[in-house]
Amino acid sequence: MLCIGIEGTAHTVGIGVVKQNNGKCSVLSNVLKIYRPEQGGIHPREAANHHTLYIADLISESVKKANVSFSEIDLISFSKGPGLGPCLRTGATAARALSLTLGKPIIGVNHCVAHLEIGRGTLSDCTDPVLLYTSGANTQVIAFAEGRYRVFGETLDIGIGNCLDKFGRTVGLDFPCGPAIEKLAINGNKYLDLPYSIKGMDIAFSGLLTAAEQYYRANKSLEDICYSIQETTFAALTEVTERAMAHTEKDEVLLGGGVAANKKLREMVQTMAKERGASFFVPTKDLCIDNGAMIAWLGVLMYKSGIRLKVEDSFIDQRFRTDMVDVTWRE
Ligand code: ATP
Ligand code: FE2
Repeated sequence: MLCIGIEGTAHTVGIGVVKQNNGKCSVLSNVLKIYRPEQGGIHPREAANHHTLYIADLISESVKKANVSFSEIDLISFSKGPGLGPCLRTGATAARALSLTLGKPIIGVNHCVAHLEIGRGTLSDCTDPVLLYTSGANTQVIAFAEGRYRVFGETLDIGIGNCLDKFGRTVGLDFPCGPAIEKLAINGNKYLDLPYSIKGMDIAFSGLLTAAEQYYRANKSLEDICYSIQETTFAALTEVTERAMAHTEKDEVLLGGGVAANKKLREMVQTMAKERGASFFVPTKDLCIDNGAMIAWLGVLMYKSGIRLKVEDSFIDQRFRTDMVDVTWRE
């Protein structure tokens, strides 16, 4: 089965073509364009305009790169949510148009679940992981339990990526700021005290963000502040992930989302996994960030398990929660 996936929850408009091979996912193409606001945070309408501008060309490019023809495509999959309304609508509209023109079925998928399934689909031995999903808007610890993907812990305010980007913008770094903060942190060595705020299994970042900005205004070394932000936030993420692993008795951990590119975060989670005798997995970077291939792959899993969607019911859901999905494709 050949499926084309359309991603457009936030900054990224991405199209991917995947094929199912012996139950695993083979990515034939995965192309994307990222909206980068000139100033400030993401403006939903402008991001959607950006996606509208590029989506048709990206669709053609993905089919061409996959070396297939439109007539060979069996299924159209799109990000149903969660995300920004105007962006999601752009993706869904393109998916409907494709479905109707090609006369092929359409399916709407949960973006967060797609981050987990692409790990299971592309990495051998990754079968039942706890996912630490860290992106701009999202920060969740997700695992499969009793027929659903459950959120064991999540951010109470902003996503870890947003926290890094907001701090970066305050101090004048280019967006996205995560990579620049990672670079600066390498030369930091003095730990500055920052709020470590875990409530139950959930994490809050805004207090830490305010404190870090205060250090900056007090002329503390930017390298030390970046180092301290990483140490504190990543330790909290690792702690919640470890507790979810202990609770669910799972011995695999998977990273996903743009922040998973960070070496320090990888190192901390990997060390935790090693100490527990667990396996550590991280997909290739193009499959960690928001992308169309993961949307296509989850579409395949859902369709093969018997799920069907009519074009007239193919609406989006900005608040589509991970645990709303009935996971029909797993035992
Ligand atoms: P979502 O809709 O899933 O929230 P998103 O639009 O935020 O997605 P992603 O591509 O998953 O997109 O993640 C982008 C985030 O990842 C940005 O906040 C960016 O600063 C962060 N990031 C990228 N590289 C690194 C890095 N090396 N270290 C830390 N953060 C990083
Ligand atoms: Fe994402």
